[in-house]
Amino acid sequence: MSKANLIVHPFIQHKLTIMRKKETPPAIFRALLQEISFLMGYEVTRDLPTEDVEIETPVAKTSKPKLVGRKMCIHSILRAGDGLMKGLLELIPTAKVGHVGLYRNPDDLHAVEYYFKAPPNLDERFNLVVDPMLATGNSAIAALDRIKQAGAKNITFMCLLSAPEGIEALSDAHPDVPIYTAAIDEKLNEKSYIVPGLGDAGDRIFGTL
Ligand code: URA
Repeated sequence: MSKANLIVHPFIQHKLTIMRKKETPPAIFRALLQEISFLMGYEVTRDLPTEDVEIETPVAKTSKPKLVGRKMCIHSILRAGDGLMKGLLELIPTAKVGHVGLYRNPDDLHAVEYYFKAPPNLDERFNLVVDPMLATGNSAIAALDRIKQAGAKNITFMCLLSAPEGIEALSDAHPDVPIYTAAIDEKLNEKSYIVPGLGDAGDRIFGTL
């Protein structure tokens, strides 16, 4: 059984199919990613805590639910994670934003941090870490290591597409972090691209092919 939560909705699947097509240009790709991240964000935040508060409508006094706690933080794994940010911030305009930039040292394959910025008090926030692609899981694992080191405890990982290998590796390394994905593809190829996938998400978002 998969260790990831699959978000299956006809709108998401339809938009994702268009994104996969190699002839889809960056402007359409970005717009669809924005729409899908909004829809996925709705599912991923389903269990955010609320508390009843006293209010007065034009008709009567009543007690109704309101979000409680510190504002959530969305962490983008650079650079492709930024493609998910606009849709998520449209859904959650008050969210704080963090960035994690890592690259692999080609000699020892260790993750090297080139950028990290996050709001304070991560331990009191719901932290949503985003990257469109979960392939080997290496960058997601390193990003989660870093975000935990900065204090985050309540963390969820969200991606658009995943490979079974990445889900396995990420859930082994961070079993406390729920994974949400819109599709689980077949496998990785010899270059660690997801098959059938959609190619390099960063290149397709930013037109750097
Ligand atoms: N990263 C991507 O952008 N695409 C893949 O297929 C795998 C990792």
